[in-house]
Amino acid sequence: MPISYNEQRRVFRLDTPHTTYLMGLVGSENFLGHIYYGPSVPDDNMEYLLRLEESPFTPDGNARERASFYDCFPFEYPAWGGGNFREPCLRVRDARGGGNCELFYDSHRVFQGKPALEGLPATYGDGCETLEIVLRDPVLELRVHLLYTVFEDADAICRSARIENAGTEALDLTAALSASLEMDAEELEVITLHGSWAREQTIDRRPLRPGRQGTFSQRGISSHQFHPFLALCEPTATQERGLVYGMSFVYSGNFLAQAETDQYRRVRAVLGIHPDSFQWRLEPGASFQTPEAALVCSDSGLGGMSRTYHDLFRRHLIRGQKKHRPALLNSWEACYFDFDHERLLQLGREAARYGIELLVVDDGWFGRRDTDTSSLGDWRVDLKKLPGGLTRLAEELADMGVKLGVWMEPEMISPDSDLYRAHPDYAMAVPGRTPTQARCQLVLDLTRKEVRDCVYDQISAVLRSADIRYLKWDMNRPLTDVYSPSLPPDRQGETAHRYVLGLYELQERLVTDFPELLLENCCSGGGRFDAGMLYYSPQIWTSDNAEAVDRLVIQEGAALLYPLSSMGAHVAACPSHVNGRVTPFAIRGQVSLTGCFGYELDLDKLSEEEQALIPGQLAEYRRFGPIFREGDCYRLASYRENHTYDAVMAVAKDKSAAVVSFVQVRSRASRRSLRLRLAGLEETALYRREDTGEVRSGAGWMRGGVLMEAVLSDYLGRLIYLEQVRE
Ligand code: DGJ
Repeated sequence: MPISYNEQRRVFRLDTPHTTYLMGLVGSENFLGHIYYGPSVPDDNMEYLLRLEESPFTPDGNARERASFYDCFPFEYPAWGGGNFREPCLRVRDARGGGNCELFYDSHRVFQGKPALEGLPATYGDGCETLEIVLRDPVLELRVHLLYTVFEDADAICRSARIENAGTEALDLTAALSASLEMDAEELEVITLHGSWAREQTIDRRPLRPGRQGTFSQRGISSHQFHPFLALCEPTATQERGLVYGMSFVYSGNFLAQAETDQYRRVRAVLGIHPDSFQWRLEPGASFQTPEAALVCSDSGLGGMSRTYHDLFRRHLIRGQKKHRPALLNSWEACYFDFDHERLLQLGREAARYGIELLVVDDGWFGRRDTDTSSLGDWRVDLKKLPGGLTRLAEELADMGVKLGVWMEPEMISPDSDLYRAHPDYAMAVPGRTPTQARCQLVLDLTRKEVRDCVYDQISAVLRSADIRYLKWDMNRPLTDVYSPSLPPDRQGETAHRYVLGLYELQERLVTDFPELLLENCCSGGGRFDAGMLYYSPQIWTSDNAEAVDRLVIQEGAALLYPLSSMGAHVAACPSHVNGRVTPFAIRGQVSLTGCFGYELDLDKLSEEEQALIPGQLAEYRRFGPIFREGDCYRLASYRENHTYDAVMAVAKDKSAAVVSFVQVRSRASRRSLRLRLAGLEETALYRREDTGEVRSGAGWMRGGVLMEAVLSDYLGRLIYLEQVRE
């Protein structure tokens, strides 16, 4: 029983394979407090961590000090008001304009399985148990249903809240976050991911300071700039040692991930939809479901946290995980908008020559899309470019043994489009203002069903028009004019979240109607690379920056949370169209190999030496790709940290084989070899290193490591493959 309730002590207990989570009821009013989250403990008697003796004035003992109690009690799901001055999860504006809310335990139940979260991406699967605790505000008759799911095979707690108006008057939620965690702030550091276009998911780690720190997005998307994730860790935590807490948000819009250190050096970490751009009207009888927060606690460092997230997401979130991930050729950096049927066939022939399985026709095949200034919303083939349409293209590619994939940007509308001319109101705009264009385009109002239907009819018509195996769903701008005529003026605060719900509904229809389709999400690269989108698409284009050196840093950040199988990783044109760097073809190939591999350039323009490397790269992807995508991932070295070399290792789940990708970016001014200690192997098993034939025990490879020879050169790549020797 991973979930239990000790009636005598009034303590709820959640056990994952290696962690324990404790909550307790306090006082006659039944406040729900957070007691402990961390490595497994057998004890239930840890209520002393609520520190009631330091603040002996529980309201029923000393109601005159209610404010002091609220100011320091570690609420499990804090609500605003009454003296809780720290960031709350819940804020309410009631029918009279009042803003206070107090939550007390009402009831609970434990059940097998996990309910779906209506309209939202969320973890799922068998082998799990769920605890529902109902809290109640007796004045408002507001009920908060806290859901906690524990999977047998994951050291994670998946949390969300459903807020129900059981009263007789409408009220507005002005904050409805998904989770809060309270702990002592002593000796903790905070980790977030930040960046910009072409520099997504860069890891940042810093000490916790008094006050609020964290990360957020108000761009309508999870964003390139910040990431819906926050970790707290011991300062001594390393890749494989030390305590780390992760909070990942299964959501793709505005978010707040924040750690607040208070006057008592306690920290409250919260995660949820950003309250500043949120409001939700709750009529009597109605409910609001928050998105899910996936909490992980690892006692084996950052790597332990990462592997837990990888497993959780692969087994219980990414529905397309088992889909085949073909090596592909994408037309974007090969020809941008400048192609026609013949040119695409030429790319198809290039793909066929090397056995590349899929040609992806990126932007430019529809409407009059010769530049990025027009045609979004007009998802009809440009018959000048492709006289036989996608149908003939797919057929002729199929004759070569190559499958067809296409690009679309379904959420957008160009002012220069037939759709806009027919339905200018489909674009989001604030009344009386000219909407802000970005990349010459506006955003469709996905909160409206007729707009979603119009988009969906077009997408499905395209997908039914030809044998299309793959769709790249792009989204190239933030939301700036967040307003929908579908809502009255006093409910416009719902628009940003309703947009995300509309997006989810569209992608749900797509994956339901086209179960064989491989969907890859994209947002000007990784602007919406998040756990929410992974529920719909098993891979996401990680960044428009595919230059290998920058990509090492971006992929390290992404792999902190997401399995390597989720990262689109291509060998792009050189010098890089994004940063101008000249990086050898072999290195570009090796860095891409650890994700979902492809080429994004004109293979015919490569030198003979480079072309000669292609068959080997594809063979390596076929051979090692499954281990990188499905195995346990260990970061052995970080170029971001050491500025010289990078090494990532993947070990097959049954530990029968392992592969290390080592990239020396800059020459080391040393004639001594470099020792790289391996990880994750079975201690007592014997492993043969394929390139040298050396045989050592797993323990030997892990304690002794491998010596990487001193090569006085920039850009050195090595793939080391180890296989268990079986008698
Ligand atoms: C942005 C994407 O990130 C690129 O890969 C490419 O698809 C362009 N959009 C096309 O407009």
